[in-house]
Amino acid sequence: MGEPLDAAVGKALFDKLWVAAPSSTHSSDGLGPLFNARSCATCHAGHGEGIVPRDASLPAQSSLVLRLGGEAGDPRLGLQLQTAAIGGFEAEGAITQRLVISPANPAGGAGARLSRPVFTLHLSDAAIDPAGLAISARRTPALTGVALIDRIDDAAILAGADPDDRDGDGISGIARAVDGGVGRFGWKAGEPHLADQIASAFSIDIGLSTPLRPEASGDCTALQTACRAAPAGAAPGETEVTDTMIAMLSAYLQTFRPRAASGDAGAGARLFGEIGCAACHWPRWTIAGDAGDFEIAPYSDFLLHDLGAGLGDDAATGPLAREWRTAPLWRTKGAGARSGLLHDGRALSLDEAILWHGGEADRARTRYRALSEDDRQAVLIFLETL
Ligand code: HEC
Ligand code: HEC
Repeated sequence: MGEPLDAAVGKALFDKLWVAAPSSTHSSDGLGPLFNARSCATCHAGHGEGIVPRDASLPAQSSLVLRLGGEAGDPRLGLQLQTAAIGGFEAEGAITQRLVISPANPAGGAGARLSRPVFTLHLSDAAIDPAGLAISARRTPALTGVALIDRIDDAAILAGADPDDRDGDGISGIARAVDGGVGRFGWKAGEPHLADQIASAFSIDIGLSTPLRPEASGDCTALQTACRAAPAGAAPGETEVTDTMIAMLSAYLQTFRPRAASGDAGAGARLFGEIGCAACHWPRWTIAGDAGDFEIAPYSDFLLHDLGAGLGDDAATGPLAREWRTAPLWRTKGAGARSGLLHDGRALSLDEAILWHGGEADRARTRYRALSEDDRQAVLIFLETL
């Protein structure tokens, strides 16, 4: 089968609305029983980034998800709060948010109205105290260039890691070792390859089994016994989603191409390097291709960094609570307009996103603030061209 055809089938799979099993269309059933959305496209609308509404009541199927209980998940609710369920089952809960103006914004001026969402959980199981749950909010990221990021060598990411800050620049990038390689997908670099990320989405977000994650009941925990016993959409020994389907989805994701890398000329690009942004947002990577090596410009080192308490996960402890993967900066122009920027969509502009940087990025932010108004604008305009 030719690649364009694979991509077309992949797009159909990306848009497909899954239904509960058993149904008359076996190729589309197996949803849930607990889930967040019925299709990839529900969350990854448009260029892939989701829509995070600003009002207090997040709709049940918002493209923002809440991870629970640190990287291991919560023993009762699993890795993620599922806000929807098939008939006969109850969703785990609902989320509301309120915006809080940051009290920790010392600078005033441009960043005076930095705000961030604080989430309240309304759990169906009254026996679970939401106050005791560590939560990590994650908005749906754009899918720009994910198939290229997949092709970066583990060794190349590892070569840039500096977990103990040996070079003393105040920046300690951690390469996240996960099952199957060096993590690079997701806000905390939790998945190493595109196939793993897709299998994880099917399992946790939609409740479907794949050869990489064969449990038919998705994110149901051992304590959620009814959920575990729900009918599967595949015969015993088979999975609801096959490796072929994952390959087609991967082919479709290849069509989310970044814009051609522009030359890094100009004042904005120079300043971006001078004030220390490029220390984490590494411009370029070399990838081995069939027709020789080629360069990509994602502007990320794919390492984890502590960006300070202001960006840390609410109530979360543990080694990753304040660590985030350097967000790639190649985006379609205007991306973030509907979803906001940063992991929970809190920043409404590029300027706000930069002013939230603290911790290892504190020096870069301070130097950004110290720029003249014209120079700050040059940096922002440069970011818009990526
Ligand atoms: C409920 C909403 C939701 C659904 C449904 C969903 N995603 Fe996602 N997707 C997300 C979120 C949130 C993240 C970030 C996850 C994290 O940080 O751990 C993400 C991350 C990704 C990434 C990694 C992007 C990056 O920059 O690292 C890819 C690729 C992806 N999703 C593909 C898919 C595919 C393919 C499907 C369908 C099988 C899908 N997603 C279904 C919300 C969703
Ligand atoms: C110490 C590493 C580090 C430095 C230095 C750094 N960043 Fe970041 N940047 C990150 C990380 C990590 C994130 C993701 C944080 C999050 O979502 O909570 C990020 C996110 C961003 C985003 C939001 C992207 C999105 O899609 O949401 C922008 C824009 C950005 N950085 C620009 C800059 C600029 C401009 C500079 C220089 C003033 C800079 N960064 C310096 C690590 C860094």
